[in-house]
Order: sequence, then structure tokens, then C-alpha cells
Amino acid sequence: RISVVEGEPFYLKCCSSSSAPENEAATLKWYRSTPPHQRTELHPGPTARITLHKDMLEFWPVKLEDQGSYFCQLGNDTQEWMLNVIRRNNQSCFTEKQVKSQTVRVRKSLQISCSNSYYRDQIHRTSLYKNCKKIAETPLLKNAEFEDQGYYSCVFSLRHDGKLYSITKTLNVTVVKDPSEVIPVILGPKLTQVEVELGILSPNYFSSSRTLEGKLYASRILRIKKIREDNLNVLYNCTVSSTRGTDSKSFILLRKGAADIPGHVFTGGMIAATVVSVVVLCLAVMCVIYRVDLVLCYRRWTGRDETLTDGKTYDAFVSYLRDCQPEDGEEYTFAVETLPTALEKHFGYKLCIFERDVEPGGAALDDLHSLIQKSRRLIIVLSKSYMSHQVRYELESGLHEALVERKIKIILIQFAPAGDFTFLPQSLKLLKSHRVLQWKADQSPSYNSRFWKNLLYLMPAKAIRPDRGSSEVLPVLAEVS
Ligand SMILES: *[C@@H]1O[C@H](CO)[C@@H](O)[C@H](O)[C@H]1NC(C)=O
Ligand SMILES: *[C@@H]1O[C@H](CO)[C@@H](O)[C@H](O)[C@H]1NC(C)=O
Repeated sequence: RISVVEGEPFYLKCCSSSSAPENEAATLKWYRSTPPHQRTELHPGPTARITLHKDMLEFWPVKLEDQGSYFCQLGNDTQEWMLNVIRRNNQSCFTEKQVKSQTVRVRKSLQISCSNSYYRDQIHRTSLYKNCKKIAETPLLKNAEFEDQGYYSCVFSLRHDGKLYSITKTLNVTVVKDPSEVIPVILGPKLTQVEVELGILSPNYFSSSRTLEGKLYASRILRIKKIREDNLNVLYNCTVSSTRGTDSKSFILLRKGAADIPGHVFTGGMIAATVVSVVVLCLAVMCVIYRVDLVLCYRRWTGRDETLTDGKTYDAFVSYLRDCQPEDGEEYTFAVETLPTALEKHFGYKLCIFERDVEPGGAALDDLHSLIQKSRRLIIVLSKSYMSHQVRYELESGLHEALVERKIKIILIQFAPAGDFTFLPQSLKLLKSHRVLQWKADQSPSYNSRFWKNLLYLMPAKAIRPDRGSSEVLPVLAEVS
């Protein structure tokens, strides 16, 4: 990339790495490429504005329209330039974009000599200007003072083909104090906290020293290649000093905050969270599946007894078929033998079975109602012939207590699916499914079986004092531990 001011003579020199340039001079070709990537070969003629002089392409002068890419081809070598033509500033003797900078320390030598080797033979006059005012001496050589600061322009006047041209080179000279007289100051806060990660390369900083607006800036880098534990939480002091003074500031490295979780910790955390979620889910599923066992276990472990303070006499009122069923019937055996033996003898509950606990003939329907009120659960042993009106009264009275007054909870024990019963009150069909137990005489005898566990679960919690002596009567297959 080359920048040049419009209206000045200018040249491009094609350089070849080839060892025999003489032979290949004939094959030198120049191209110019215009924006949509078209290459056109240049045919510079001796009288044209752009001429060829040996291996140099000369512009007499360069114009704004010359901006673009130029190539030279010499044998197998090609060279490319991007030519940027700057518009001339007609208000000034120089063009600010084409100014070079120079910094001089005060009382050191300031030398400005105007020379131009390429056009040397054509130049007939050279003048030096300071801030666009011509100054006598050229070259300028003196000890710099602050008032010497300014723009120095060398103007070369030259003649080509009977026309006059000029080339201007401008230097922006800045005179700075002697650094030894400077009172140095470190920029930025006195204490800087830098968050770092262990074992990580510290970021690259650029070291530099430069002059800006007459001030000298310098920097010196402390680079820690790999940060270790002992680099943390200690002060690193940076000090600058001259004969006139000293300044210093401190840096401290801190472990990167918890907000930025390192990758491996994040991954680990995600895995742990997933495992915990899965475990919690499994536990929840287990709790649902083994809810009955867990509740029974909990009752046994805590010895909870919810029967002590409610003022009721019986744990359950057993409602079953009496009238129209033969005494050796399945339901009869279950209600009068199997159920009392298990709940009373083995699990320690107190049941109210009308036929057994109330004197025959001495009971009125009122008694029945008060007996149900004195019970905590209503166990309905449901069979197809559950029809007698006394039984139906038991049922309706119990349902009223359960559903309207919410004083008693119903446990339904079925011998056949509830759908088979046409006479069943609607409300009983709405009973939650876990309150309905299915009795299978051939499969449910063990006290460890699901049937008895589910029944115990539905019964009120009670500190159990089983009557071990009598429990032998029942065919016990497994003891509840
Ligand atoms: C010349 O140097 C001075 C002081 O360093 C600076 O402020 C100014 O911008 C420079 N001028 C140009 C045209 O670069
Ligand atoms: C670093 O700078 C701090 C703050 O100015 C100062 O207390 C401490 O003594 C300095 N440490 C060294 C080693 O110079």
C-alpha cells in the first residue's frame, strides 16, 4: 500500500529476484486492475503522462484517477501495489495525511536535510518551510528548543519534458522534555485486581513505548506463563522512577469468581444433579409402590396409636350377610372366622360383629346405628346376596356416617367384582379404588400377604398387642416380623 498526493511526480519500481535482469528486461509487463477484477496491460509511451523508464513506471504527475492496483511481471515474478491517491490540500502548503512524525528531546540535535535521490538530476531547486513559512537555512541543524516544534516541509522543484513539477515532504517535529526531568506517573488505579484461572496462560499484552501529544508513554510487561497457587493473593508492584520522582502501583491475582464455573465443575454438577434427580424419582416411584409397607413400617417403628383419644369403642364394624346365606358359606366363614381371627387375635384390633357382640333379639335398629357410630371403620363384606334389609340399613347408615358426616371410613371387601352388584348405592361405586380389597380365599391366607397389609393400612394406626396364644388356631403361613 502506497499513499501519494495528487499532482506530484511519482514512480513504481519493479524489483526482480531473478539473477539475470538484463535478459528478462524485454519481458517486463505492467498491469493495472480496475474494480471488477479486470487486468489491463499498460502500454506506457514516451510522450504519455505515464511512462516507462527502465524498470520504473513513472507518473507525470499522479492523478486521483490513478488510484487502484498495479502489477509488474518480470519473468515468473509478480509484484503488486495498492496505490492510494490523496487529494491535495489547497489551503495549506502540505497535505496532513502525508505527514511523517519525528520526536526530538529538548537540547538534543535537530537535523532536517532535504534530499531526493530518485529525481536528483531533474531537481533544480529545494526549499525548506516551517509551518508554511520559508526558512533560510537548509539543511537545518541545531539543538532543539521547544519553539522548534512544528511542521517542516521540503519542497523539491523539478522540470520534466518542459513542464514544472513539485514534490513536498513534510515532517511533524515534536520536542519533548528530557525523560530524566520528567516526574513519572503510572496510569490507572493504585491497586488492580485481576481474575485468573490456575494453570492458564495469562493473556498477551503488548509492550510499547511511544509519544503522544508531546508526552512519552512507556510500558513494561510482567508475564506469568502459567498461574500457580502461590501467584494468587500476593502484591505485584510496578515502579517507575526518575531523578525527579517515583510512582508505583500494585496488582493482585485473584481466583476467578464462582460466577464463572469452570467447565469440569459444570459437567460434574450436571451429572450429580441428574443422578440425584433419578434417585429422587426412583425413591418417589418406590414410595408409591411400597406405600402400604412404608406406612405399616412407620406405624410399627413410631408405635403411633390414633385410637386412644377419639372416644370410640370399636376399631371396625363388620357388616356382612346373615339371613339368607348358609352358615358354611364363603362370606360367612370369612366375616365370622377369618377376619376376626386375623384382625383381633393376630393384629390386636377390636371388632364389632353384630351377631356375635349383640344379644340375639335384644337389638333394635337404633342400637345398630349407635354401634356404627362407635366404630372407626366400616368393613363391608360384599357378596352377591347382600340383600337383607337389616344389612342394607347397616350399609346405608354407615355410608351416611362416612360420606355425609365423615366420621367413619369404609373398607369394602369383595368376593366378586363390584360391577356384578345391581343394587349397590351409587356412592359406594365412587369409593376410591384403594379402599376396595379383593378377597381370594385360596390366595390370601398368609398374614404377610398383600391383602392383609392393605387391610392393615386402611385400618387405624394402633399399637399392636397381638394375642399370640390364640393366633395358633388360624393356619398362619408366615408371621409378620
Ligand atoms: C503533529 O504532532 C503533534 C504533537 O505530537 C500532534 O498533536 C499532531 O496531531 C501531529 N499532526 C499530524 C498532522 O500528524
Ligand atoms: C507493594 O506496594 C504496597 C502498596 O503500596 C506496599 O504496601 C508493599 O510494601 C509493596 N511491596 C513491595 C514488595 O514493595
